[in-house]
Amino acid sequence: MSKAISIIIPTYNEGGNIVPLVGRINKAMSAYDYEILFVDDDSKDDTAANVEKLSKTYPVRIVVRKNERGLASAVVHGILNTTGQKVLVMDADLQHPPEVIPSLVKALEDGADIVVASRYVEGGGCQEWGLFRKLVSRVSTIIAHVFLPPTRSVNDPMSGFFMFDRKVVENAKLQPRGYKILLEILMEGEFKKAVEVPYTFVTRDQGESKLNIKQQLEYIRHIYSLMRRKGELWRFIKFCLVGASGIGVNFGIFALLTRVGGMKETDFLALAIATEVAIITNFILNDIFTFRDRRSSGHFLTRLLKFNVICVAGALVQAGVYALLYHAIGIHDLVSYLIGIIIATLWNYLLNTWITWR
Ligand code: GDD
Ligand code: MN
Repeated sequence: MSKAISIIIPTYNEGGNIVPLVGRINKAMSAYDYEILFVDDDSKDDTAANVEKLSKTYPVRIVVRKNERGLASAVVHGILNTTGQKVLVMDADLQHPPEVIPSLVKALEDGADIVVASRYVEGGGCQEWGLFRKLVSRVSTIIAHVFLPPTRSVNDPMSGFFMFDRKVVENAKLQPRGYKILLEILMEGEFKKAVEVPYTFVTRDQGESKLNIKQQLEYIRHIYSLMRRKGELWRFIKFCLVGASGIGVNFGIFALLTRVGGMKETDFLALAIATEVAIITNFILNDIFTFRDRRSSGHFLTRLLKFNVICVAGALVQAGVYALLYHAIGIHDLVSYLIGIIIATLWNYLLNTWITWR
């Protein structure tokens, strides 16, 4: 008979963690009907032997993949080789405390489709993380939130500790790469309600992390792959093209007002009118071209007003970045200006996809 909860744990050289991990899961899960499937990529240590030993006492088993490597693909392999209606994914190295699992189960029973154990909600966090790793994690999260809007349903889409109802992935074509399997499920899965439960990412005691530079680059390629598959790449390109057209409009109106309209080139009003017209044409183009599928997110005029406010703020952001880089730090003026434009574009994209066209 199928177990109610399938716990999938990818492993690579986690020999020293298996026994304490299974013990703690079993204690935390004593009230539930569960199984554990380890998906191992041919570890060079005693990972498999330890699982085999425990399988006499606990509902645990292991599949060993000989020709494949990768955390995310191992999890997909696990999903395909289990049948529990509820699926839980976690790491083997005890950085994800098993004692948190019951609260994930509870949230799922309360009606969520996906429950993420999160470092980035009230009560969550990371134990002893250096500034650098914290920064990398935050920036990675922001990249996902900016370019893959559906991931905004959770604060910690990078978490490797989560649970979901199997129906979420029933029709999903999962094509993960690298480490971030939750990203793939949030983008390709079907769900209504995603919730987060806080937890603290504990420092590793046994073994070592397999996360390296190659995995970080793989992450960028994964984001790119998801953007392509989901039409978000094309959307971002359209947004940039519309922005570029706005520069032409802005320039043209300014020239018209000062050469034909009789306004002075020093007149702030000429600059303000030209900018405002460009904002409005940008809005109209984006509305029918870039965000055609999201026009139901409010009245036309409300969307226009939101877009307008965000873009004016974006211009201030650009000026602020320029002031900081050029005046305060002393970076080359054109480089500072270009960075200002890039940051303002990302600002406009993030806020407009967040607020104007939800
Ligand atoms: N099967 C398999 N194949 N398992 C792997 C592989 C692999 O190639 N690489 C790593 N694992 C297993 C490890 O054995 C461990 O159980 C788990 O995946 C996490 O690997 P770590 O190397 O310890 O990752 P981390 O601690 O740096 O990062 C983890 O936590 C982050 C925060 O929640 C991962 O879960 C990240 O995805 C997550 O963002
Ligand atoms: Mn780890």
